[in-house]
Amino acid sequence: MEERTLVIIKPDGVERNLTGHLLKEFERNNLRISRLKMMQADMELARKHYAELADKPFFNKLLDYITRGPLVVCVIDGEDAVNRVRELVGDTDPKIARPNTIRTLYGKDKTENTVHASDSVESAEREMLLWFGELYDK
Ligand code: TYD
Repeated sequence: MEERTLVIIKPDGVERNLTGHLLKEFERNNLRISRLKMMQADMELARKHYAELADKPFFNKLLDYITRGPLVVCVIDGEDAVNRVRELVGDTDPKIARPNTIRTLYGKDKTENTVHASDSVESAEREMLLWFGELYDK
């Protein structure tokens, strides 16, 4: 099924000059970029994005990391896009992700894992509204 998903190239990805390479990786896999912007997230946006993790011990560390510098947020479209993007991105922990996923190649640890990708169509809808607001047209 044709789907849309939200992808964030997190601050470590931007810092290490990986933005172009990672966007190309999605395009090379026949996924299309339909929205794209660079911005810095403030604490309020970060807290909303990660709201379901608010009780985790790593929550504050995660907020500091995601707000520490510019990130690139995009909407990616394609057949089965949610799962296909998650496959390319790999497991949360770069150390146990399958070989050659983005996170095994570039992630540092479970927090600094370079890319966010929505985990379901429902999460993608919520996250697209959160990050693109009125710019996001259904
Ligand atoms: P989660 O939704 O479990 O993973 P994913 O990003 O693979 O969907 O967690 C969201 C983010 O929370 C994860 O990308 C980085 C952060 N996180 C940590 O910092 N430490 C952890 O132990 C876990 C599980 C996640």
